[in-house]
Amino acid sequence: MLDNIKREVIIACDFSSKEDVNAFLAKMGEAKPYLKIGMELFYKEGPAMVSELKSRGYKIFLDLKLHDIPNTVYKAMRNLGRLGVDITNVHAAGGIKMMEYALKGLTEGSQEAGYERARLIAITQLTSTDERTLKEELLISVPLKDTVKAYAENARKAGLDGVVCSAHEAGIIKDLGLISVTPGIRLQGDSADDQKRVATPALAKEWGSTYIVVGRSITGAADPLAAYKECVKEFVGRI
Ligand code: C5P
Repeated sequence: MLDNIKREVIIACDFSSKEDVNAFLAKMGEAKPYLKIGMELFYKEGPAMVSELKSRGYKIFLDLKLHDIPNTVYKAMRNLGRLGVDITNVHAAGGIKMMEYALKGLTEGSQEAGYERARLIAITQLTSTDERTLKEELLISVPLKDTVKAYAENARKAGLDGVVCSAHEAGIIKDLGLISVTPGIRLQGDSADDQKRVATPALAKEWGSTYIVVGRSITGAADPLAAYKECVKEFVGRI
């Protein structure tokens, strides 16, 4: 499966309204970048904004991180499948059965609406979860990296396509036969902001990321189109 997937740059649309998204896209000229829509924007603007962006030709990674009982996730994913999103995700912490139900819902919803099924990826551990939180709050005593690997293996057992991880772990994920969607990307010379383990698009390519998610290095740039083109040039190798 990994062989026929092409590397792509996804822009994190961490804006608070549809108007802000459109103002940003207006600066992107003819480019039709892959967009990541997260909870903030989705809970404000709803599915209508996703449908509108899809109809304008944008690919969408809908980053809602579902985590609930299998049947609820199945029904929610069926609705997301009907929206025709291109990538969406769940928390691997919901377990194998929940991930299987998510995949079933997404597959059925996409088929009903005539779309190709979205890629389904799993969150292993949030980057905000550290060893202390894991041990003292969640009472999980194995090292965090062991949980990441085990959760990724569970995602694979459930038939998911890949995981969200740092570019530093992309190689391990590739060896499992999974795609990796990697945030924490910065162009050379940009501030790391609150990201702890950053990589340039060129390094992410070298380490085996399938998709990179880039927010502030593009959205906060003086010339966002030039920053986007630089990311594509480094990561995909052509514009
Ligand atoms: O601005 P920046 O490039 O840091 O944005 C990264 C995007 O990826 C944000 O939308 C952030 O929420 C998301 N993300 C992340 N780290 C994760 C998972 C998602 O930075 N582990």
